[in-house]
Amino acid sequence: MLPWVMTFNATSLDGRITGFDADVNLYYQLASEMNADAVLMGSKTVLNGFNAKSGQLSEESQEDFQPRGMNNEEKRPLLVVPDSRGKIRIWSEVRRMPYIKDIIVLCSRSTPKEYFDFLDERFIPYMIVGYEQVDLETALDELNLQFGVKRVRVDSGGVLNGVLFQTGLVDEVHTLIHPSLVGTGRDSIYYTGLESPADNIRLKLVNVDKLEGGLVYLTYHVIKDL
Ligand SMILES: NC(=O)c1ccc[n+]([C@@H]2O[C@H](COP(=O)([O-])OP(=O)(O)OC[C@H]3O[C@@H](n4cnc5c(N)ncnc54)[C@H](OP(=O)(O)O)[C@@H]3O)[C@@H](O)[C@H]2O)c1
Repeated sequence: MLPWVMTFNATSLDGRITGFDADVNLYYQLASEMNADAVLMGSKTVLNGFNAKSGQLSEESQEDFQPRGMNNEEKRPLLVVPDSRGKIRIWSEVRRMPYIKDIIVLCSRSTPKEYFDFLDERFIPYMIVGYEQVDLETALDELNLQFGVKRVRVDSGGVLNGVLFQTGLVDEVHTLIHPSLVGTGRDSIYYTGLESPADNIRLKLVNVDKLEGGLVYLTYHVIKDL
């Protein structure tokens, strides 16, 4: 069974996801209220968040090379990251984030063998799903089957969101609108390169919250059946 998938982005009034001062504390407070069992985060978003470059290694200790158990009953969400090219090497630092119970790296059959060795040495769990890129539908299905994941929050930019929307995997869209105009055409929450109105994702508004500081928090359901 596929989990319920929710995107959540902080945006400017003109729909940009970068280039303005997002209220990060409020974003993560609202995110924690979404009761997700897993957070699906893009590899670039992870690297940006840790100010790291592709392939960069973080400081490691003996502890990072020890096995650890995973308790499925634990309330904290799993962090799930598609990284088919093996770009992220700062897992020991990522793993220390207090709000996650563990990490699952999503790889594909084209992921370099050397990356699997890297993950194995550190006992970092991974799944091999798909040939070139990660097959996200299979990954979501497996997360439900193996770890009981029922609700997924996507913490990502327009590329991963775009793939998820295009493959019909998104159920709910959350947007926290900030009172600023960025004024550039880049970094939309949803990027596919498609321009026909027929390709638009149809949405039903389910909630509007007017928050302090001029922010507006919107929740939509994706209309899947025409
Ligand atoms: N304002 C907000 O709410 C917000 C939230 C999150 C992020 N951001 C910003 O968004 C930007 C990054 O966004 P982004 O979308 O460019 O990068 P991203 O979030 O890292 O998304 C790219 C991810 O999608 C995967 N992917 C790409 N094509 C795929 C396909 N065909 N099938 C399966 N998986 C695929 C990539 O996997 P591979 O590595 O395997 O290719 C990668 O993990 C950053 O600037 C970040 O700061 C803003």
